[in-house]
Amino acid sequence: MAGRHFLFVPGPTNVPHEVLSATHTPMEDHRNPDIPKLTLPLFADLKKVFKTKTGQVFIFPASGTGGWESALENTLAPGDKVLASRFGQFSHLWIDMCKRLGLDVIELDCEWGTGAPPERYQEALAKDKAHEIKAVLVCQNETATGVTSPIEPIRKAMDAEKHPALLYVDGVSSIASVDFRMDDWGVDLAVSGSQKGFMLPAGLAIVGVSQKALEQRRNAKLPRCFFDFEDMIKANATGYFPYTPSLPMLRGLRVALNRLFAEGLENVFARHHHLAEGTRRAVREGWKLNVCAKEKKWESDTVSAIVVPEGFDAAKVISIAYHKYNLALGAGLSKVAGKVFRIGHLGDLNELMLAGAITGAEMAMRDIGIKVEPGSGVGAASEYWRQAKPAEAKKA
Ligand SMILES: Cc1ncc(COP(=O)(O)O)c(C=O)c1O
Repeated sequence: MAGRHFLFVPGPTNVPHEVLSATHTPMEDHRNPDIPKLTLPLFADLKKVFKTKTGQVFIFPASGTGGWESALENTLAPGDKVLASRFGQFSHLWIDMCKRLGLDVIELDCEWGTGAPPERYQEALAKDKAHEIKAVLVCQNETATGVTSPIEPIRKAMDAEKHPALLYVDGVSSIASVDFRMDDWGVDLAVSGSQKGFMLPAGLAIVGVSQKALEQRRNAKLPRCFFDFEDMIKANATGYFPYTPSLPMLRGLRVALNRLFAEGLENVFARHHHLAEGTRRAVREGWKLNVCAKEKKWESDTVSAIVVPEGFDAAKVISIAYHKYNLALGAGLSKVAGKVFRIGHLGDLNELMLAGAITGAEMAMRDIGIKVEPGSGVGAASEYWRQAKPAEAKKA
């Protein structure tokens, strides 16, 4: 199709031209003496993004799913009890992985569209007098429903019960896009991936690990090889990897981090909120529809899942947007398949790019007979964007 493809799934996101260019590099010997000049600053700078001074950040040649697996395998033993909530496809898949690795999961099932329930976590931890629960899992941003959960209340629930379990956070679609504070929130294992807020292709699992979690690797009996922290620690100490790293991706990561720091992390978060808020104005004020997140406190600044009216199939909106308007919208997954389509608003993005996606979604909705006023979505969003400044938007 002529013209630009509009990529608006919540990851992979648009890769900025200069990041893409940095990945176009001749192959190099990954053991050459210059490699540490690239890698050691990357490790140090990733700690700034994760907001950890005391933890260590690993880069695995994998996707976010590999990051989940590394966090579990390096800290747990078969049969260990894990406490986790499920309120969307990704929180579900992490629980599924725990089970497949032989862990014993206490599941907090929640309505899709709601977020992690601190009080239910606390209740379960209070009951666990013998401290059999070794891991507490939370998905900070449930990409399937567009729900963000505050992490601090979960840490507070653990502390209130003086529970020694480790805190594991899925930050795949939140870290580098919305606020994340590994040290302040007492997060022991923080998992992210390259293809969302980091504005890179998929291919790197980026995992932050606290000293407490690193210590735990000595008792962790789950089998592991590729994802072994031990091998990474040894090789990373001098700036190398236990196996062949993807150097083009690491060169891209260098430029992506430079961009994040040049904009300023807090400005990046404010921009994401500003863009998300405009999208929500389009949905509510323009289209008179709703997002899947049940309450304002859970609305995600990286992705909005838009609920189509009863009797319509959201998959058709996605199909028309793709085939007719060259626009990729995110699909509804599992329980919300056919009920929602998603607009990813994270990564390298501005108002006018998002206005294109809102317009395309609106045209596709009208094409299948959904009665939305033409121009209403982009009208509501653009008026908001025009008047609100990103820094002010943060407080809204
Ligand atoms: C919240 C969340 N967790 C985990 C994953 C899995 O990551 P990956 O697809 O990179 O393995 C995703 C992917 O979209 C996600 O959104």
